[in-house]
Amino acid sequence: MKIIVTDEVSAEGLALLTQDARIQLDVKLGLKKDELLAVIGDYEAIITRSGTTVDKALLDAATKLKIVARAGVGIDNVDVDYASSKGVIVVNAPFGNTNSAAEHTLALLLSFCRNVTIANASLKAGEWKRGPFTGHELKGRVAGVIGLGKVGGRVAARLKAFECEVLACDPYVSVKRANDLGVKLVSHDEIYKNCDIITVHTPLTDETRNMVGPREFGLMKSGVIILNVARGGIINEQALLDNLVSGKVLGGAVDVWSQEPPASETLKQLIANKKLVVTPHLGANTFEAQINVAIDVSREIINYLDDKPMENA
Ligand code: MLT
Repeated sequence: MKIIVTDEVSAEGLALLTQDARIQLDVKLGLKKDELLAVIGDYEAIITRSGTTVDKALLDAATKLKIVARAGVGIDNVDVDYASSKGVIVVNAPFGNTNSAAEHTLALLLSFCRNVTIANASLKAGEWKRGPFTGHELKGRVAGVIGLGKVGGRVAARLKAFECEVLACDPYVSVKRANDLGVKLVSHDEIYKNCDIITVHTPLTDETRNMVGPREFGLMKSGVIILNVARGGIINEQALLDNLVSGKVLGGAVDVWSQEPPASETLKQLIANKKLVVTPHLGANTFEAQINVAIDVSREIINYLDDKPMENA
């Protein structure tokens, strides 16, 4: 089986594939779209992260393709319906990086609340200022977690450890899960109306795209802190910018963008906004997570070759 790897994936995690005599693994990073279209016809499997868009054009050119393996959770960069209609199996790695994404959410929240990034830049620039970097405690804050899945659940548990009161909304989870996590399940609007901190942890789907828009910002408390370490576009970026500029949103953090790398004027203004801590889609970027997800997708490809059931297809 010829496999192409088009995004950075842990080599250590891919060892299962490189050691298998049935497999030829070609790592080709940074290919332009037309370059990928020109070579994809040679391959029976493609391993990607979020940097490669597996759309109709790519799937049409991929005449031998059997498997799209997404080394991560989100499959919003893959046209799953079209792949399935062509008999191409799409697998992901739904577990291996969820802890990293949750930890990154807390890292960004604390960075924002204690002005870590701007105080760091100030001190490195030779200044000694303390007053402008007076921050906020998490203890006693009401935090709203939208999406109580694998990442959201871990974020909720960590917010509880910081003595936040945690509300959550997720139409797909049971009251038992919320009880087990010690959080209260409420409606979306109750999250917007009651929370000091709001963090989204849903996949990007037609249901969740622009889920937090002008109406939802209108319901929020003045001084709310907003976080998106899930997917760009779940929070409407123009609405976030408008509410940062108006002062309704105190600030927050964004790791993911509707366009990556971000190029639009709105995204440039969001990134430049001093009230936002920003990172370039680093939620899953730990050595541990990258090894985990690479092993998970590698196992799935081996299962396919061994004619065994695939767990995450
Ligand atoms: C995910 O969906 O698991 C992550 O966004 C993966 C990545 O970093 O590409």
